[in-house]
Amino acid sequence: MKILLLGSGGREHAFAWKIRQSPLCERLFIAPGNAGTAALGENVPLNPNDFEAIGKFVREKEIGMAVVGPEEPLVLGIYDYFKNTPGLEQVRLIGPSKTGAQLEGSKAFAKRFMMERGIPTAAYAEFTADSLAEGLDYLARQQPPIVLKADGLAAGKGVLICRSVQEAQTEFRAMLGGKFGQASARVVVEEFLDGIEFSVFAITDGNTYKILPVAKDYKRIGEGDTGLNTGGMGAISPVPFADGELMARVESRIIAPTIRGLREIGAPYLGFVFFGLIRVGKEPYVIEYNCRMGDPETEAVFPRLQNDLVELMMALDDGNLSSIAIQEDPRAAATVILVSGGYPGDYEKGKAITGLDEVEGSIVFHAGSKLENGRMLTNGGRVIALTSYGENFRQALALSLRNAGKIQYEGKYYRRDIGFDL
Ligand code: AMP
Ligand code: GLY
Repeated sequence: MKILLLGSGGREHAFAWKIRQSPLCERLFIAPGNAGTAALGENVPLNPNDFEAIGKFVREKEIGMAVVGPEEPLVLGIYDYFKNTPGLEQVRLIGPSKTGAQLEGSKAFAKRFMMERGIPTAAYAEFTADSLAEGLDYLARQQPPIVLKADGLAAGKGVLICRSVQEAQTEFRAMLGGKFGQASARVVVEEFLDGIEFSVFAITDGNTYKILPVAKDYKRIGEGDTGLNTGGMGAISPVPFADGELMARVESRIIAPTIRGLREIGAPYLGFVFFGLIRVGKEPYVIEYNCRMGDPETEAVFPRLQNDLVELMMALDDGNLSSIAIQEDPRAAATVILVSGGYPGDYEKGKAITGLDEVEGSIVFHAGSKLENGRMLTNGGRVIALTSYGENFRQALALSLRNAGKIQYEGKYYRRDIGFDL
């Protein structure tokens, strides 16, 4: 089968790496891909949000499966486009329908969905410019910290944790006034949950599901989880505190009712669900849903998934997902992300990367790099992900860090304390 993978980050390099291991994949295209995916398949310069161009390419190349990495094309309705366009209906599109993708595309939709089903999540209220006064009044009655969320996609920047009612009210006005454009035309106000976060992934056909290896990511730029939020500075899998008891609760209280709920609302969902969870006491709560795999979690999760990923994705259309057992590598994995100096603020691109061939014993996933005239250059905030195996995550981390030291480019920065809180 010919496969087209959409996206260009470290997550997509990990997808390409895993897809390439499958004998079911005859040819792999990545749109637009990066310097890492170029070594595993053919990069094609197409924008994942340009459905017409993607559809034309799929027909021309007789692609059998299209795998969607990032959320944006899903929230924009790429699944529905394929199912409603002659010549594309038969293609296996791995990702949810536009309605299913609302789990990530609208925080208000996700909150209502959870509340209606008793899925544990923080208490909330939602407001628009029409209910500004009620919103300010509601905020005045809250106990800080107060969490404000833009309803729509805001490139990971739409969540604010406010330390006082006054700060919350100021930010609330700014959000409704367009701070995140249309995404914050509606604002969700949430109770702050104090606990430890982790990431659970399921692959589902909308009826049945399988749980993939559990992970934990580290989003802040600074060691000790300080400073600004980033796309993710590292990840580990498995998560020591996510034991059988906690995961049984996650499955019965969160995963099973979520999949049932998607079926009830008639939202086709043949893809990945990312449950962003927090453990408070002994109880898991949903912080957010995403309609795709996580980045950098995928770079730690897929190396521990022993199943043939293409076979798993084919099972979504073939209706035999329930007959497949997930096989996890017993080893731990730890991923360290090397970023550009200044990230997540302003940073420069185009710095020469050297030392990649000295990496020993780690998997190199490219996140933001490009090949130009035979030279490898930085091309993004997150540049390289290094994943290693070990008996436990500390051992795995030590190896990733050793290799991180061998890669050189101007402004290189990475966190050395991934897993510090475990
Ligand atoms: P989100 O974009 O929804 O993942 O939010 C970004 C980050 O904000 C999360 O990873 C949490 O660290 C934090 N966060 C979001 N909602 C809450 C909440 N209700 N309580 C505490 N922290 C939260
Ligand atoms: N690692 C968090 C995300 O992918 O959104």
